Amino acid sequence: MADIRFDNRVAIVTGAGGGLGRSHALLLASRGAKVVVNDLGGSFDGQGSSQSMADKVVEEIRAAGGEAVASYDGVDTLEGAEKIVAKAKEAFGKLDIVINNAGILRDVSFVKMTIEDWDKVLQVHLTGTMNVSKAAWGLLRDNKFGRVVNTTSAAGLYGNFGQANYSAAKLGIVGLSNTLAIEGAKYDIKVNTIAPIAKSRMTETVMPPEVLEKLLPEYVSPLVAYLASEGCASSGEVYAVGGGYISRVAIVEGAGVGLKQHSPEDVASAWEQISDLSKARPFENAMTAAGQAMQHVLG
Ligand code: NAI
Repeated sequence: MADIRFDNRVAIVTGAGGGLGRSHALLLASRGAKVVVNDLGGSFDGQGSSQSMADKVVEEIRAAGGEAVASYDGVDTLEGAEKIVAKAKEAFGKLDIVINNAGILRDVSFVKMTIEDWDKVLQVHLTGTMNVSKAAWGLLRDNKFGRVVNTTSAAGLYGNFGQANYSAAKLGIVGLSNTLAIEGAKYDIKVNTIAPIAKSRMTETVMPPEVLEKLLPEYVSPLVAYLASEGCASSGEVYAVGGGYISRVAIVEGAGVGLKQHSPEDVASAWEQISDLSKARPFENAMTAAGQAMQHVLG
């Protein structure tokens, strides 16, 4: 198989000053991409800022012979996102690849969660992913090429105690990606989402060191690079990835039932069939999903 390369491609990686983003940026740069290394440089819960995290990764890339520039703006405002995208245009003249990876945690049980914890987490993850995608979209369309890789989490896909804000933001990213994949299709803009698991400052306190050593960010980045490559044909998909494990994740709908009588008791009697996922399948968009419902209704 030919090497997967990114020569003449320009990539933005948000939150690339450490953890997964750093690893994605290093891999893309090692394969020829010119990379905007974006990081606000704050703490894991979104306090403060500094330039040193992004600067260090830019130095690493340059030391290895790659091309990179630093960007210190936050993804959480459209203004910040526009500056990140402007940096790509200024430094490298165009933009092809956006890796939306920046994130923070404000873990707390729902009963104790403040509205500020909710707003901040949604602002960075969900609105941040939208902001950077929105700022980039025109350039990708003009290019007639774009690869966007977003970052969700098992907490969003399946739920996790203490992460109501994070789960909502992360599943919101899947919804955003589904529609951007549809709207980007005619411009060869592919939008996919990863649900990673990896050693980082986010997971260092929740997993034992011997497990974390098997979950290096470097085992996640090859999937990101594949999804960012010209040859990637998939779009609108979600992939779980960590430690070398990679699997497609899908939202599926069962074959369902078409009730002819419409009382709550009719629902109760059909519960087994309603709950049955043995013939479940994913749908490519809302219209095809509605089509299955309408077959029951009309047929
Ligand atoms: P990390 O904390 O090392 O990386 C996140 C980076 O985003 C940090 O460098 C941080 O400074 C930066 N950042 C935070 N707010 C920002 C903002 N407003 N603008 C720009 N940069 C900002 O953590 P990790 O684990 O590498 O996380 C990367 C992504 O992967 C996050 O979206 C996270 O939610 C997601 N994720 C990670 C998992 C894991 O097992 N490590 C599990 C599931 C999802």
